[in-house]
Amino acid sequence: MSKIICFGSLNIDKVYQVPHIVRPGETLSGTAFEVGCGGKGGNQSIALARAGAKVLHAGCVGTDGKMLTGNLNANGVNTDLVKVIDQPTGHAIIQVDAKGENSIILFPGANHGVTNELIEEVMATTSPGDYILLQNEINLLPDIINKAAAADLTVCLNFAPFDPETAKIIPLDKVDILIVNEHEGAGLTGSDEPEKIIEILLKKYPGMTVVLTLGSSGVSCANREESLKVDAEKVENVVDTTAAGDTFTGYFLEAMARGMELEKCIQRGCKAAAITVSRPGAADSIPFNKELL
Ligand code: RIB
Repeated sequence: MSKIICFGSLNIDKVYQVPHIVRPGETLSGTAFEVGCGGKGGNQSIALARAGAKVLHAGCVGTDGKMLTGNLNANGVNTDLVKVIDQPTGHAIIQVDAKGENSIILFPGANHGVTNELIEEVMATTSPGDYILLQNEINLLPDIINKAAAADLTVCLNFAPFDPETAKIIPLDKVDILIVNEHEGAGLTGSDEPEKIIEILLKKYPGMTVVLTLGSSGVSCANREESLKVDAEKVENVVDTTAAGDTFTGYFLEAMARGMELEKCIQRGCKAAAITVSRPGAADSIPFNKELL
């Protein structure tokens, strides 16, 4: 099986349980506080590894990031391509409300310390046919995509979080698999109708597989060969939705890299994400493969 390089963010998550998401001008007491491992990149590496993939994580942390690299290693993720640089490790301030919905402030810190030298070093470890998984929490994303496509890697982009400036400069024509939620899809296409989002993206990028996650409404997916919709798993008690998208992405891509059919890959991602939302935290809430059986 090909290897998967996840080139992405690593964050220390500071998670506050709150009665509701704080409103402008309001001061609110949290009812619980935890520090955990997160970052969309780190979470997706852990989801890939727990699903069974061979994963290399690439990115940057500060000297205060040992808990993050240690946790990746403990999950079987190779961290030889994680650089320790002279900037604080990225962190996220996460509020989780009584319904399990969240609101996140990001401080990129070392995640924005990616250099062209690091990109070259990452590319030198790859072979044609390997997968590279990216999110939008690191700098130099367009350069990484261009170089990965030139190296014949399968490029998978989870364009989260959405930001309009990056949207203007990323070479989406070089992305093989795009994973977005409705908001990110709307930001990219100007439409908030799921079918339209997919139609617009495929018209512009006919070689792409578009995976549109719709929360409790499931996942729509299409490429030039097929178009399908998979229902979400029912979850009785949603505790915390943090990292649900990351879990979906990791489990989905591991299955794709194993050559499973598209519908099965999506079902696997949905099943894993349903377990994640029933537990608190980010990386810690991601299930192991045996929990899906
Ligand atoms: O997707 C969840 C993640 O987003 C959190 O772990 C947080 O660090 C932010 O990157």
